[in-house]
Amino acid sequence: MEQNEARHRIEALRQEINAHNRHYYLENAPQISDYEFDLLLKELIQLEELYPQFKSADSPTNKVGSDLETSNAPFRQYAHLHPMLSLANTYSIEELRDFDSRVRKGTSSAFTYNCELKFDGTGINLLYRNGILVRALTRGDGTTGDDVTRNVKTIKSIPVQLKDGSGYPPEFEIRGEVYMPFDSFNKLNYQRELEEEPLFANPRNAAAGSLKMLSSKEVAQRGLDCVLYHLIAPGYDDSLHSKSLEDAASWGLPVSEHSRKCSTIDQVIEYIREWDERRHSLPFPTDGVVIKVDQYALQRELGFTAKTPRWAVAYKFKPEEALTKIESIDYQVGRTGAVTPVANLSPVLLSGTTVKRATLHNADQIQILDIRIGDYVYVEKGGEIIPKITRVELSRRDSSSSPEVFPSICPSCGTPLVRDPQQAKFFCPNSDGCPPQIEGKFIHFASRKAMDINIGEVAIHQLCTREYIKELQDLYSLDDLQLLSLDKWKGKSVENFRSSLEKSKSVPFSRVLYSLGIRNIGETTAKTLASAFKNIDALKAASKEELLAVEDVGETLADSIIDWFSQPRHLETVEQLRKFGLQFSLEEKAPVSDTLKGMTIMITGNYSVPRETMKYYIEAHSGKVGSSVTSSTTYLLAGSKAGSSKLEKARKLGIPIITEDEFYKIAAPEGSSSPKTEPDEPTLF
Ligand code: IVH
Repeated sequence: MEQNEARHRIEALRQEINAHNRHYYLENAPQISDYEFDLLLKELIQLEELYPQFKSADSPTNKVGSDLETSNAPFRQYAHLHPMLSLANTYSIEELRDFDSRVRKGTSSAFTYNCELKFDGTGINLLYRNGILVRALTRGDGTTGDDVTRNVKTIKSIPVQLKDGSGYPPEFEIRGEVYMPFDSFNKLNYQRELEEEPLFANPRNAAAGSLKMLSSKEVAQRGLDCVLYHLIAPGYDDSLHSKSLEDAASWGLPVSEHSRKCSTIDQVIEYIREWDERRHSLPFPTDGVVIKVDQYALQRELGFTAKTPRWAVAYKFKPEEALTKIESIDYQVGRTGAVTPVANLSPVLLSGTTVKRATLHNADQIQILDIRIGDYVYVEKGGEIIPKITRVELSRRDSSSSPEVFPSICPSCGTPLVRDPQQAKFFCPNSDGCPPQIEGKFIHFASRKAMDINIGEVAIHQLCTREYIKELQDLYSLDDLQLLSLDKWKGKSVENFRSSLEKSKSVPFSRVLYSLGIRNIGETTAKTLASAFKNIDALKAASKEELLAVEDVGETLADSIIDWFSQPRHLETVEQLRKFGLQFSLEEKAPVSDTLKGMTIMITGNYSVPRETMKYYIEAHSGKVGSSVTSSTTYLLAGSKAGSSKLEKARKLGIPIITEDEFYKIAAPEGSSSPKTEPDEPTLF
């Protein structure tokens, strides 16, 4: 490969890998399988080795993916006492033998490997002091993690207090995996299906998502479990890793029973072969085997690379695949108008379930793989619920087949499709007239996180096809006859529906805003906008500049807000819903005190509490939160990583810059109440 070409490929790979890291760690919604991700990473590692001149400290090959919540962080963040690293991984026995050779080169004395299952969950770091669980952090970016102690305490297998007199060290960290057993996972998704909430793609995402929930009560219902596999404690660095785990088990900590000591690489390979089969009968998900040098002394000699230890490796099981035929291709129009091709397959058995459909993602995917109706294709279960097609078996292609042509008009309403260049997706722009988009608008509006209205997708579909509902406000004026005409609806369903409509009138403004289905306004954005603008009229009147001045609001979001409010039918919807009594402004809360009255405080950087809590706190003490540093700003409250331009401007204008502690003294002079003394539950609004 030519230098220039290599540089471009390296850059493209870095971007792609960073994007997949975000989907995996932050959104818990991977878009490719682990296997495909590992292939991309491997290609990048190889290119960086071949072209060291393009190495960069910023490259994802040097960093572990981060699960840290960044915007409006609802969790406190703490540094790990020791960084949490990841493992080098491989899918090949040959590479495993290379690993063994490298280890053997590093020593002349005998050593053993401890082989362990690789649990497929989300990393956790527990800190015990004097036998008490004091903190549980997610892996975060490897250096700092989100504090999820309250949630972790709901996991039954994790002791809050270690066994008395069992000889544990006074302070130690122990790492492991929080996972969701298949039983809990199936129950959860079944429940979500009933409640018409989006399903979790796999137990790993469900575990990671559950651990980051704000309500510990709900976490407790999720049936999470935990296994610990890495102790870091004083006095535990001179013997064997396996011994440290045995000891941890004797203190009452959950440790796997399926580990095995092996003295040769052939024994390791035997362990892998055995578990590749046996893992299918385990009640929890595993995705490989971890092989660790057991002797701490040798571990120390081997040391670490930038992000992984040289004394351990993960051997990952390849996802299973099956060969089957494409019978036809459907083009589905989603709630947002995005058109997704879905292949109908001859039913085939894959990882224990019969697969009949597979997603083709987008037009590019069809073209790249050159997928045609009648082709035999390989399907694989990756990170997603719907399996995907990985390649075509060209030797079985019918010579009379022709390339698939992506439709140019919406398969549902016939409107010419437009292409979103950023997402490689085609959209139907007829958002107010295209049936699946109209239905989608109601499904979203009624969903639990939105207005939480007791009505299912089938009923919405019937109401839409009978044209009883077109605009959101129509839900509030349905009569009993119309409702009783719905399949399976009786007096009780009508009653439930009506009482949920009544309740929806007290749903707070931020959720109402989310429910309207304005493109790019998710739950968090809705909260940010609600607290910035206070009511719908101010949001409607906001100029693009005013929108962009709000933290986390970018061009795309600003444009979609302006576009939404520019349409008279949307304004009519707002007016009608307002008449029905929905909340279109933030509820005014009685202030806690007047200490900040008349002050405008500009905030910048990170605090020991989430930013939203800080804003709430300023307002609770009758202060105003500024949107930029001006001559009327009273204080600039600078947290860590404060914005340099804001600091500079404040200095120029002579505005006092205060720290978080100084701020608390001003807001609550007698130390009466600070956010730190608020209940543990993060307060967003
Ligand atoms: S040891 C420095 N052991 O796999 C050693 N990790 O791909 C760190 N994992 O980040 C990890 N089972 O979240 C270790 N038995 C096991 C494991 C395990 C699952 C996860 C862990 C790690 C990832 C690496």
